[in-house]
Amino acid sequence: MDSVKVGIVGCGTVGSGVVKILLQNRDIIEERIGKKIELSMVADRDVEKVKKLGVPEKFIVNDGFKVVESEVDIVVELIGGTTVAKDIVKSALENGKHVVSANKALFASYGEELFSAAFENGVSIRFEASVGGGIPVIKALNEGLVANRIEKILGIINGTANFILTEMTTRGISFEEALKIAGEKGYAEADPSLDVDGIDAAHKIAILASIAYGGWVTINDVYVKGIRDITPLDIDFAHEFGYRIKLLAVAKPDNGKVEVRVHPAMLPEDHILSSVDGVFNACLIEGDFVGPTLYYGMGAGQRPTASAVVADIADIACGRGSSVPVSLLKRGAKIPVKRPGEF
Ligand code: NDP
Ligand code: HSE
Repeated sequence: MDSVKVGIVGCGTVGSGVVKILLQNRDIIEERIGKKIELSMVADRDVEKVKKLGVPEKFIVNDGFKVVESEVDIVVELIGGTTVAKDIVKSALENGKHVVSANKALFASYGEELFSAAFENGVSIRFEASVGGGIPVIKALNEGLVANRIEKILGIINGTANFILTEMTTRGISFEEALKIAGEKGYAEADPSLDVDGIDAAHKIAILASIAYGGWVTINDVYVKGIRDITPLDIDFAHEFGYRIKLLAVAKPDNGKVEVRVHPAMLPEDHILSSVDGVFNACLIEGDFVGPTLYYGMGAGQRPTASAVVADIADIACGRGSSVPVSLLKRGAKIPVKRPGEF
């Protein structure tokens, strides 16, 4: 059986989940894909943390670049952020390594540069976990819906914000308390303002819009408003009139341009997205032939996110390429964006 060597950079919430899956479920994954997956190296600042997961000491390093320079076939970037993470991903690609990452901030900012570097170096990047946690929504857009023009994407795609709004609505707890719990559960970003200010959802809708419409949409193209100003009184009034307040991400084509936005919205209580509560995410995608389709599941947290990362590792092991349309692998693949208020 052929084998692939995997190196993980960053063993926090998601990275530890990936290690756990590879230790617990490797047999069944290998049986399914007909390849061996070797966990060859794990890098984290805190070596002890990795040892406690059961990874032998000889496979652990404290510098992510050692993974890039090693014999691995796939570098799994899970440190987050757009500085060191970008250097690691770029240098992995230039060293002929495939990359798997959950880093939406990185690809919503530098997608064009990184995917064209992958193309030029004959390697692939997959990033399913970057949107919707464990839900295979990127795969759905690239594969299941390939026959369709995408008429609309409507998503609840930030688990932390949805958890906060749900807790405020159903249990009446404060914004601050709900955010603290989301952090403890491993849902929130290292900088949770990315979640509550809508920026994380904007990273994700930029990625979905890029894939759906075949040209790079970046974070700077997205109109963003978060949930920081939503009060319990707003929630009560909305309820009185038969609405739920949700942080919505929207992408849709408009006269040769694409409108991409994130903001709180009042949804009728019988709207299918109104019942998406807690850390759950949902994406309603409408294609011109298939009609509306819905993707639902846990949008954040260790186990669902790690599940998506390992699926990408398996896809690369099976020779499947980058998880974006071919048009996005070339430099200059841009798409005109409609600004708020523009007609
Ligand atoms: P964590 O902060 O829990 O984990 C990151 C880990 O990487 C930490 O252990 C950190 O150490 C370590 N690290 C940071 N910089 C370096 C470095 N230069 N060298 C070695 N180790 C380093 O983050 P998450 O696991 O939550 O998130 C990782 C990525 O996954 C992010 O891009 C995030 O947006 C994305 N993601 C997260 C989800 C979630 O539910 N948590 C869901 C979907 C995507 P230290 O703690 O010392 O900084
Ligand atoms: N902080 C993100 C969220 C993690 O809450 O949705 C999943 O991408």
